Amino acid sequence: MKRVAVRGVEWNVWDEGAGAVLLLVHGFPLDHSMWAGQFEPFSTRHRVIAPDLRGFGASSASDESVSMEQFADDLAELLAALKINEPVVFCGLSMGGYIALQFVKKHADRLKALVLCDTRAAADTAEAAANRLSMAQRVLNEGAEIAAAAMAPRLFGKQTAQQQPERVEKVRRVMLSTAPAAIAAAQRGMAARPEMTDYLPQISVPTLVVVGEEDPISPVAEMRQIAESIPGAQFAIISAAGHMAPLENPAAFNAELEKFLASATGSRTATGF
Ligand code: MLT
Repeated sequence: MKRVAVRGVEWNVWDEGAGAVLLLVHGFPLDHSMWAGQFEPFSTRHRVIAPDLRGFGASSASDESVSMEQFADDLAELLAALKINEPVVFCGLSMGGYIALQFVKKHADRLKALVLCDTRAAADTAEAAANRLSMAQRVLNEGAEIAAAAMAPRLFGKQTAQQQPERVEKVRRVMLSTAPAAIAAAQRGMAARPEMTDYLPQISVPTLVVVGEEDPISPVAEMRQIAESIPGAQFAIISAAGHMAPLENPAAFNAELEKFLASATGSRTATGF
């Protein structure tokens, strides 16, 4: 892991491999380790960058609220600090996808292609936003256990929960070790995130939309709608997976990502997908 100081944050960044840059942006309240199943296969032909977002994992600092726009600006400057000047493939899961949509809007010149995993374009309803704000306060008062207890049962498909309990436990431990201030800040930022549905037809980079077949948070029908709204977007459903598709079924996810990268960047990994 690399340590990089940018925008008042000491960043913890996975940075391995060479070639077209693949930026992997984690969901909430997680860290770079959710992409463990992608590191080795993709760093054979790509430079894989997977940061811990501001306040998460081993990256420092957090504000009272961090907007999705702010996370996107963070990433643009982080890429610059890593001397990455060419456009990147931005792959974000869930909150990472909310950030990806702001990155498209604000930093289109830095983007070669887009991968939206298990995410949403819609803003929160008033009720969902209010729940997030109350969760933010509870986490600050009572600790990260509250967030872990609420999130963990919703992240994984049935098969993962039954057959890969160690994987589920690892993710739960990441959530438990996340700073309450970072959880609260991101919850507040997600509560205020803009509605992006009407923006989707303006996306003009090659795009892949991927969803786990049992995802209850960003369901298949909603993700299909996102794919249909983005001109030329490809759509893939990952079997035996819920919200954490890249982690739950890396073989199927990687095969889809590899196919997409080959068409979007002309690259091929040595993994034989
Ligand atoms: C995530 O996985 O990042 C969360 O489900 C995002 C959210 O809470 O909306």
